[in-house]
Amino acid sequence: MYNHLLSCFFISFLITFHISQAPTLAIVLCWRFRVHIINALSHDNLDIHCYSLDDDLGEHNLQVGGDFTFKFGEHVIHHTSFWCDMKYGSDHSKTIYVFTEKFGDNQCCHTRKCFWSIRDDGFYFSNNNQSWVRWYDWS
Ligand SMILES: *[C@@H]1O[C@H](CO)[C@@H](O)[C@H](O)[C@H]1NC(C)=O
Repeated sequence: MYNHLLSCFFISFLITFHISQAPTLAIVLCWRFRVHIINALSHDNLDIHCYSLDDDLGEHNLQVGGDFTFKFGEHVIHHTSFWCDMKYGSDHSKTIYVFTEKFGDNQCCHTRKCFWSIRDDGFYFSNNNQSWVRWYDWS
């Protein structure tokens, strides 16, 4: 009996310890994400080139209304981030992080989706493709 209790205690200790040691919430609750990047400019094509440390997603030229999308499983060890170079016209270009581990935890975990709407006045974020917040501007 004593041994049994002890091993129960030990196992729950292990589980608790393991969870509290997990790097972040994203790893435990949500580890597959999809990112959408939507050209919502008023009339320009958007040049886009996204990367992570492991991936080069290639160059894409998105027409107005176009949606560039990719999905990934977040690696426990790699602490995945994706960033994209974005450009339109002759004088608008910027590199933004479209996904970081922290962003996954705080902004995209609930839906496991990160939407970016690229507009004339900046970069808008949503996790449901409905309510948008301007996250960065072009300058
Ligand atoms: C996002 O919303 C737009 C406008 O309602 C719709 O056309 C598009 O299909 C949606 N995209 C996704 C991936 O839900």
